[in-house]
Amino acid sequence: MNIKVQTNYEEMSKVTAEFIINYVNHKPDSLLCLAGGHTPLRTFDYLIEAAINRQVDFSECKFVGLDEWVGLGKSVKGSCQETLYTSLFDRISISEEQICFFNGLAEDTAVECKRVDHFIFENGKIDVILLGIGMNGHLGFNEPNVSPDLYSHVVGLDPVTKDVSSKYFEEEVNVKQGISLGIQHIVESDTVILIANGAKKADIVKQTVEGEKTVEVPSSLVQDLPNVHFFIDEEAASLLEKSDKE
Ligand code: GLP
Repeated sequence: MNIKVQTNYEEMSKVTAEFIINYVNHKPDSLLCLAGGHTPLRTFDYLIEAAINRQVDFSECKFVGLDEWVGLGKSVKGSCQETLYTSLFDRISISEEQICFFNGLAEDTAVECKRVDHFIFENGKIDVILLGIGMNGHLGFNEPNVSPDLYSHVVGLDPVTKDVSSKYFEEEVNVKQGISLGIQHIVESDTVILIANGAKKADIVKQTVEGEKTVEVPSSLVQDLPNVHFFIDEEAASLLEKSDKE
């Protein structure tokens, strides 16, 4: 894991976007998996700015969704799919053919998992996977005590995830399950980028980096991988014993 601490959220977002832009410029037909949630939103702004200024071209890229709340579709403001479309895809005219996203309203979630897995295998593997970290260490909806050998799967949501979920929605939603790429997808990705910012993430960042490698903290499962880049701001890094400040 390569850890880089940036002064603040803005710098963390800029560095993350630059990394992705550089990657896509070397491999224009990359398969990208970009998390929903709040952490990547400013990164998306920088990606959009670069696309508009022709510093990067996403027209040959493919995009696969990381996760979704079961029972919520794209029409729900705050769903993962809605977040990605509104904050990125619609703003740089990514076409439907380029995107494969979990449908939280799918009648048969097992078929939905197979559909998404098939899209990834058909495209080789994920080139860059950009992940936020949940307050409980979840990556996507790989919740505490996840089986690390899973590909796409449906999962009962952890109490912490249910608690935090209200921050995404304008209306009250009762979410019980998630549908998500698995740890196996993450491990098999060419490059993994983790991002975290703010003092509230300091404890889980410490557990991710310096804690025991355990399924109880899913983000710790990637701590030994050489192809993991962890971009964090100073607040999120504040409890780390050793880190590389930039
Ligand atoms: C959410 C999402 C994930 C996200 C993570 C962190 O539950 N399902 O896709 O990466 O948790 O979210 P945030 O960036 O808002 O802290």
